[in-house]
Formats: sequence, C-alpha cells, structure tokens
Amino acid sequence: MAKKKSPARKATSAKKPALKGVAYRPTPDVIAQANLKSWETVARKANRDLEGFWEAEARELEWYKPWKKVLDSSKAPFYKWFTGSRVNIVHNAVDRHLNTHRKNKLALIWESEDGKEERSYSYYKLNREVSRMASIIKSMGVHKGDRVTIYMGRIPEAVFAMLACAKIGAVHSVVFGGFSVDALQGRIEDSESKLLITCDGSYQNGKRIELKQIADAALERCPSVQNVLVVQRTGHEVSMQPERDHWYHELLETPVAQERFPTEAMDAEDPLFILYTSGSTGRPKAIVHTHGGYMVGTYTTLKYVFDIKEEDRYWCAADPGWITGHSYIVYGPLLNGATSFLYEGGPAFPNPGRWWQLIERYGITILYTAPTAIRGLMRFGDDWPNQYDLSSLRLLGSVGEPINPEAWRWYFNVVGKKRCPIMDTWWQTETGMFMITPTPVVPLKPGSGAKPFFGQVAEILDEAGKPVKDGEEGYLVLTRPWPAMLRGIYGDPDRYVKQYWSTYPGKYMTGDSARRDKDGYYWIIGRVDDVIKVSGHRLGTAEVESALITHPAVAESAAIGLPHELKGQGIHCFVVLRQDAVASDALAEELRQHVAQHMGAIARPEDVRFTDKLPKTRSGKIMRRVLKARAQGLPEGDLSTLED
Ligand code: PRX
Repeated sequence: MAKKKSPARKATSAKKPALKGVAYRPTPDVIAQANLKSWETVARKANRDLEGFWEAEARELEWYKPWKKVLDSSKAPFYKWFTGSRVNIVHNAVDRHLNTHRKNKLALIWESEDGKEERSYSYYKLNREVSRMASIIKSMGVHKGDRVTIYMGRIPEAVFAMLACAKIGAVHSVVFGGFSVDALQGRIEDSESKLLITCDGSYQNGKRIELKQIADAALERCPSVQNVLVVQRTGHEVSMQPERDHWYHELLETPVAQERFPTEAMDAEDPLFILYTSGSTGRPKAIVHTHGGYMVGTYTTLKYVFDIKEEDRYWCAADPGWITGHSYIVYGPLLNGATSFLYEGGPAFPNPGRWWQLIERYGITILYTAPTAIRGLMRFGDDWPNQYDLSSLRLLGSVGEPINPEAWRWYFNVVGKKRCPIMDTWWQTETGMFMITPTPVVPLKPGSGAKPFFGQVAEILDEAGKPVKDGEEGYLVLTRPWPAMLRGIYGDPDRYVKQYWSTYPGKYMTGDSARRDKDGYYWIIGRVDDVIKVSGHRLGTAEVESALITHPAVAESAAIGLPHELKGQGIHCFVVLRQDAVASDALAEELRQHVAQHMGAIARPEDVRFTDKLPKTRSGKIMRRVLKARAQGLPEGDLSTLED
C-alpha cells in the first residue's frame, strides 16, 4: 500500500492556495451548520491512520460481537473488514432505532406517480413491514446465503424486500425494473435464485410496465426459481402459476406473516447482496457486497457528505435497482436514521414541474440525482422550478456521469438558488460508497468531484503505470482499500483479480480516465472500456450486441456510445446483415425495437446503421474505437492492428 508521499496527501497538506475555477465557497452560514467543520482535519487524520478512521466510524454502529481486526490485507486483493465480528445491516438500519427517540420518526415516505397515493412508514412501522416480508420469504424455504431476485417498480415493498432478505441473511439481487426479459433471465440464471419477488406491474411516465409478464417469460428458462412472490401494484390481471406464484397481499393475511421476526446474526464478511453491472466484456457480472464493511462505508459517507441531520428530508431520486438506490435510498439513509423519500415516477411526468412540486410538498432538504435528469429538466426552462417553493433545500447532489458546467450552474442557480452546495459524488457499483466527493465545507468547481474521500488515495497513471503530470489525462486508480469495496465477482474470483487488480498490480483499476488539477481536484473524463453510460445507467456494448444477434437478419454487430445532449451518451449500432436480409429504414427501426424489447427501453439504440464489414483486429476483435472516431469525424488513430 502506498505509504510514501501520495498525491492526495500533497493536496491536503498544501497551504490554502488561491483555487482556480471555484464557483462556490462555503459561506459562514453553511460552515456553522455543517456537522463537520474542517475537511482538512479529518482528511489528514484518516490519511495517517486509515484503520483508525474506519474503526471509530464502526463504533457508532451496533455489533452483536466486536471485530478482532479492522482490516485484513493478508490475502489482498481479497481484503476483509471487521473480521471476527457478528452483525446484520438491518439491525443497524432498522432494529437499532426502535430503542431510541427515532422509533416513531418517519423512515420512508412514498408518493405514487399519479400523486393520488402517499404512504409513510415510521421506523417502528418499517420494522413490522420488513418482519412480515422476512417471515413470508423464510416460510418459502429461503435460507441464509440463498439468492433472491427482486424485480419491481419503485414502491415501498421493493425496499421491504431488500431489507427482508438481509434480515434473514439471504442475498438479494435487485434487477432494475426497466430491464426486460433477457437481462432479467440472465441475472436470475447466473445467481441461481430460489425466489423471485416481483409485482403485477409498475408505472413509469404514465405507462404500465407488465413486470409479471416479463418475469414469466424470463422464468421459462430459469429452473432454479421455486417460488414467485407477487406484490400487487396495478391490480391488472396477470397469470399466476399454481404452486409457484403467490400473491403477497394474500400471504399477509395468513399466520406465516409475523410482525415480530428475528434478525439473523451474520459474519461481517457474509454477502449482503449481489448487483449485476456491465463490464468491458461479456455478460454483466455480479458485484458482491457484505454486511459489515458496506454498512460502515455507506453510513459514514452519507453522514459526512450529505451532512445528515435529524430533521432532514432526504431524497435520492435514483432507482433502488442501481447501486445508488441500494446505498443511498435504502441502506445509507436508514443507517443514519434519516427520513428517505421514494418517488414512483420519473422527473417530467405528467409535467416538468413534478419534482419541484414534490420538493415543496414534502419539504425536501437534500436532493440527490443524476446530471441527465438536470439536463432534461433544464430544457423546460426556469419557470417550472420557479413556480414552487424550493426554500427547504439545503444541499444538492449529482452522480452517475460527469456534470457539464451548464447543467451544474442551472442546478446551483435555479434549483438551489445559489445557497445549496452541490455534492458531485464519483463512485461505482464496485466501490459501494462515495470515493471522490466534496463535503459541504469544501469549495466547489463545477464538474469536479473535488478530492478522494477521507483516507483514500486516487492516482492518475499512464499506460506504463507512472503517475501523469497534473492537468494530464490518465487512468484513474485507487490505491487503498475501503470498507464498502466489492468483495469480488460472484462465482468468479479470477475475473475479479484480472479485471480490477491486474492492470497495475495492487491498485484498483476504476475503468475511468481522469485528470487532477493543480489544486488536487479530480475531473472525471469517462469510461475507457466498453461501458456506455446512457442517462447515467451503465450498459455494456456486449449486451446490446448479444440482443441484436438474436434477430434473424443480423449476422454481426457492434455497439458504441457517442455523446448525447440529454443522455450523456447514446447507443449507436453498426450491423452486418445476413445474406438474405435487405437493409431498409424499416429494418433499422425494427432492430432498435428488438434491442429495447430484449434489454429494456433504456437500451434502445439512437440509430442502427448497416455496413458490409466491421473494423477488426487480426485476432478478430471489433475495433469500436475506430467506429467511434469515424462516426464523429475524428482521427482514427493507430490502425496498424486493423485486419486489412
Ligand atoms: O464512469 C463513472 C461514472 O459512472 C461509473 C460507475 O457506474 P455505476 O457502477 O453504474 O455507478 C453509478 C453510480 C455510482 C463510473 O465508473 N460516474 C459515476 N459518478 C460519477 C461518474 N462520472 C463522473 N462524475 C461522477 N460524479
């Protein structure tokens, strides 16, 4: 581990320089309110004593049995945290609060997309809901360590389902409700889930999504699933397979549903969940997170970065199906005893004032969302947010992709009224928690996530593994372990080592490129692999290509990501047709639909172009970088490895 002078240390120990490009300096007001007054003091301490920093944080939570060791690096990169301890994240996210003043505090508030339904749950009530679901899924023969796939819309039961699994020690695998048959099927199959928890349907932008129907199609090829628990949301008729499918609301009326149910004591390193994410090659891989370290990491980062206070109404507008939802809708806020708001719908339905209306209605104090949503709302103009009272807001957050300065300014000026600092948090499914981020007392530069979180060191390296000069672009790597780090790829330890720890041995390869400026601020440029970020959602070129190949007209295809004004990146496909197929606009449209139908609407390509040949290396690898350059009219770079 890097003990020598690290770039991050240099940055923190520097005398306060005249920072270039700062658009926001914490006002005395903000500093006076902040739980943490001096970023430098904590950063310096954590840099000196990483384990000491995390140990102190861990002590703020409850453990059934204390740890013997904070960090075990003996089998690095298979790091272990808080070894020897017994704990359950649900004990800290729910049970623990019942013996405190928070017992009757609201844990979760939810509003339906049509605005006609509002539900709220105190910690006391949440515990009863989670217990009821936990007892039901346990009665279905789900044991500690078994995987459960959750495929639902944004409703409170999705949160209960995650917590219920964790409570009994089952491993949840949430699949985003916007994914379709192939994506769901692949994830159920790989995880060998015993149980699927789903809904009859969900609502998104005024449309009904037939989740149960999609699940049925996926389950045709998933023999591991013994039971399907169906939550009623739309009330629309769905087919129920006898023996296999069970209505949740019916089981709630039976004696198996218990309002008091024990929380299982887990080893800190026992898996809490797996979450599939796209990598550079092949099928999505399941990232493994644990009860102990992930708990400490999400608790601590949310506490410091969003400065959580008792009276906050915190809204993370992501979907529980992505890591942002796991860490910062569900676990992080509940671990902090906060009130988390969950909204069923999207930002601009039925009109672009919907989110602003919700902020006013619920007195939201912290809003955390993605640049794509900001850009989408910005285009409707200032009148929409200006119609509502947004004065409850005190902090804003951004995640998922680089935020362009124009969107940053609009968010800051129009939404935050120049009062609310924006926490631009850089992190990943793999990191589990914020890794590069400011806190409210850090001066902000639009488009930069400021500096690595306490105790962390981020380096920017060239191909040979040497640090690049400040201001130059390079590969972003992390050099110190952190408690919420992924523990591996489910069922594939070799791929874990190869993918993350082999490019620069001993250093965690993020897959992003970045630069650091003279003030030590980090600027993320984007992915350097075949991952495409569409509206902040992470998709792989390989997944799009596998969907295309299932169409009878397609012989071969390549998908690439190109800049998109609203989405950040859009998917563009190049297709070589089979001999008997004829290129036409109608076929191109059919192929776009085909991808959407197989993967989900978020993966619908912007366009499909037909070509006779794809640029390949002599070993047959598609050179997507050449396609990308060509499509943008940029220089094609080194073509010496091109096939012909
Ligand atoms: O490229 C970075 C981008 O999102 C990737 C991780 O995607 P995912 O695992 O889906 O997690 C997204 C939510 C944590 C990163 O490799 N990314 C994430 N946050 C930022 C970002 N790019 C720039 N700025 C950010 N704040």
